[in-house]
Amino acid sequence: MIVKKGSARVDRVSPFYVMDIMSRAKTLESKGRHIVHMEVGEPDFSTPQPIVDAGVDFLKKGDVHYTEAQGLLALREKIAEFYTQQYNVKVSPERIFITPGASGALTVALATLIDAGDDVLMAAPGYPCNSNLIGLLGGVSCFIEASEDDNFQLNAASIASAWGDCTRGVMLASPSNPVGSMVDGETLKEIIQTIDERNGFLISDEIYHGLVYEERAVSALEFSDDVFVINSFSKFFGMTGWRLGWVIVPEHAMGAANRLMQNLFIAAPTHSQFAALAAFSGETKDILLQRCDEFKQRRDVLYDGLIELGFKVPVNPEGAFYIYADCSAFTNDSYAFALDLLEQVGVAVTPGLDFGMTYAERYLRFAYTTSIEEIKQGLEQLALYIDSRAK
Ligand SMILES: Cc1ncc(COP(=O)(O)O)c(C=O)c1O
Repeated sequence: MIVKKGSARVDRVSPFYVMDIMSRAKTLESKGRHIVHMEVGEPDFSTPQPIVDAGVDFLKKGDVHYTEAQGLLALREKIAEFYTQQYNVKVSPERIFITPGASGALTVALATLIDAGDDVLMAAPGYPCNSNLIGLLGGVSCFIEASEDDNFQLNAASIASAWGDCTRGVMLASPSNPVGSMVDGETLKEIIQTIDERNGFLISDEIYHGLVYEERAVSALEFSDDVFVINSFSKFFGMTGWRLGWVIVPEHAMGAANRLMQNLFIAAPTHSQFAALAAFSGETKDILLQRCDEFKQRRDVLYDGLIELGFKVPVNPEGAFYIYADCSAFTNDSYAFALDLLEQVGVAVTPGLDFGMTYAERYLRFAYTTSIEEIKQGLEQLALYIDSRAK
């Protein structure tokens, strides 16, 4: 067979190592094994009923056509109102674009901003799709090695010292994936100043806002209108499968974002947009806040359990639903450890390799997207596994 040439840029898109874990977990489950799932980055809760009802009511009418490329005005107005209530900032609905998930939002933002050869700064470890997307667009991801000392986050000084001739901007996520650490308001303000002085862009990924357990999450929009803010209905709102998110762009980028939406997606899924109209109701909010409390309890159980077992957890996460744990007390190959952990005792976690090469072999990401009972069982199994390795 003649193998035709594919895209070299696509060849450089990295796979998710966790897929190996997930497919092995499925195989084991099909053989009757019970698996504790702590690998998946999505809430185990189902979509809140008021949102489901709104989606079903809309679908029953059968009138499922494209919306305008930018998204339903009624939904954009609700999002704008949400920014006033949540962050005390005024955002015009004209600057809001409804996208297929935060993934679509990140695609629109990056495609609006970068040309081939442009450098983009970001923290490592971080969300892997960012650097893959940048590579697809011909850009270059420049990783700033983050550590315990800087809360695994970027700051003005680290950005200033990494800024080079080809640097065009910065991507930041707070709370972050995989660490769950946050950037405080003062630091975010300094970061924006540093970027502005260099005439660069900031993409602020705020997808885990709402799922915060200590301090309030601060939006980049509280300090500047000249930022790209990413958010989604996936995580806090529990709507992963509906594929719905949004990006807020500066006024000067509205035309570009509109053209990209038209060409890349035509529009986000219509039924999901109608369902999301119920996402900001008081009834939905009560459900979501209760879930947030549950996540906090899960975090505490998992954090205490991991520490007791001898894992080092450099940051007790302030948000999201992950714990990034140093397993170097037990192994120098976290990928092999994750595979063996699943095989021997049925606990599925994500190896550090999925979040970049920085100390990857030393880290595992535990997602507390499962019940406290399951987490406790997972910790017991983990204890058995660690004991068996010591023998
Ligand atoms: C930091 C971050 N950004 C963006 C996404 C994409 O989310 P979605 O496309 O489901 O909204 C994820 C998903 O895990 C994420 O962790």
